[in-house]
Amino acid sequence: MSDDRCWWKCGVIYQVYPRSFQDSNGDGVGDLPGITTRLDYLQWLGVDALWLSPFYPSPQADFGYDIADHCNVDPLFGSLEDFDRLLSEAHRRGLRVLLDYVPNHTSDQHPWFAQSRASRGNPRRDWYIWRNPGPDGALPNNWLSTFGGPAWTWDETTRQFFYHSYLREQPDLNWRNPQVEQAMLDILRFWLDRGVDGFRIDALRKVIKDASFRDNPPNPDWDPSGNPYKRLLPVFSASRPEVHDIIRRMRDVLDGYTDRVMIGELYEPLEKLVTYYGSTDAPECHLPFNFLLLKTPWNAGALRAAIARYEKLLPQHGWPNWVLGNHDKSRIASRVGEAQARVAAMLLLTLRGTPTLYYGDELGLHDVPVPPHLVQDPWEKNVPGLGLGRDPERAPMPWDASPHAGFSSTDPWLPIEPRFESVCVQRQREDPRSILSLHRALIALRRSEPALHQGDLRIIDAPESAVAYERAVPASRMLVLLDLSGSPATLRLDSLRQGGEVVASTHPSRTGERVSETITLDANQGLVIRLGG
Ligand code: GLC
Repeated sequence: MSDDRCWWKCGVIYQVYPRSFQDSNGDGVGDLPGITTRLDYLQWLGVDALWLSPFYPSPQADFGYDIADHCNVDPLFGSLEDFDRLLSEAHRRGLRVLLDYVPNHTSDQHPWFAQSRASRGNPRRDWYIWRNPGPDGALPNNWLSTFGGPAWTWDETTRQFFYHSYLREQPDLNWRNPQVEQAMLDILRFWLDRGVDGFRIDALRKVIKDASFRDNPPNPDWDPSGNPYKRLLPVFSASRPEVHDIIRRMRDVLDGYTDRVMIGELYEPLEKLVTYYGSTDAPECHLPFNFLLLKTPWNAGALRAAIARYEKLLPQHGWPNWVLGNHDKSRIASRVGEAQARVAAMLLLTLRGTPTLYYGDELGLHDVPVPPHLVQDPWEKNVPGLGLGRDPERAPMPWDASPHAGFSSTDPWLPIEPRFESVCVQRQREDPRSILSLHRALIALRRSEPALHQGDLRIIDAPESAVAYERAVPASRMLVLLDLSGSPATLRLDSLRQGGEVVASTHPSRTGERVSETITLDANQGLVIRLGG
């Protein structure tokens, strides 16, 4: 289906971080059978697709983003049969399943890397990126690892350096070698043949590097007390023009199947991000992830400007999308506070384009502090104390008020949200005023209203502290009004926008209220209004 009603345009995507969703075998780590037992919840919530972060065999140096076999399931998470059951149970409920595809690197325990590092003459030597030292044994160039330190590690046996964008346990593949490309595209086919509905592609902009390995230039805006990786601008180690050819060939593989979706993880400035849609003749990602809501300062002016700029820069054939949280970023409730987390939910679920919701954000979960002796994330271990660690946003899902929050029968791999008894799914499901109930209502509204899942978006004038926009299809119009400040805002509606009815509100309920010339939003309040005619 290529029209505006196809599932990945109209639907809501929900990210599951398998380690933290549901443990079924009492080892404190979530797994695939656990996810299967929670599909009814996802169906109840009303989402359309789940994206699963990696569950493949892995030493877990980067919690599954270090893959030792792309076509299997780590025993920690279950088996291939468990995956097939999850997939068919999801499909039976009308839920699509997207996998995380990690093309940039493998684990150092992958058999390909074992062969590559065995000798310089090994046929797989060139599957990874090996370089001679510079004069006096110096590093081949100045490129840095995202997770701290140089991106080059010396291999004593074969006396060359290998390159790793992330941990040294995650050597980068050499996509300039056609055999690597073949093998990696075959992995897409393996899962597509099994019936998955698409992929979220990890670290896509890093897949191919400058052919002559030029040094990266210094970043003039770097703050020396901040992230050391930001010291250089990664202009030669990421976002190279050749990446687009590779993405087109990935897309070709997906286009050989019906109705699949390709989403790219691309932390890029907007002008560049939109180029990853490709062109109508040479399409690339269906959805280059739009991370604007993760980085835009949380105030009305900045958000209005971000929405307008995105809408303006999107190519004609590009379908928008919005992301509010993921397993690498501080949770929305911690970033903007509880009251604004509700406004953020309304924003995410009423903007034009596919929303991606991170597990637990529908409960308003906060980042969970992790004491130093319980730190898991290698980034925090390598570069401690700068707040780079990602454990706080990966805490287990609290399902009920029983010990271990219904997540596990034992102490989980990361601490549970301390307020789990009051914020758990079970408690919030019963409360029509909870943020969970709000999410469910907004998802249902989005699904039932073509203006919300298909319509155009027009930003309309509003007081300084508010964001207002209209979503419209020829047959219906919806008005979204959001107060971004802690004080009330009064909006004057022009004659074309009067006579509406409130159909959703963040808190407290104003549903059913009729709207005339002016409307006052309470502090931190959002409303969706169905306009007449
Ligand atoms: C992506 C993932 C992140 C991972 C990194 C390396 O950014 O989202 O979690 O650590 O790639 O694979």
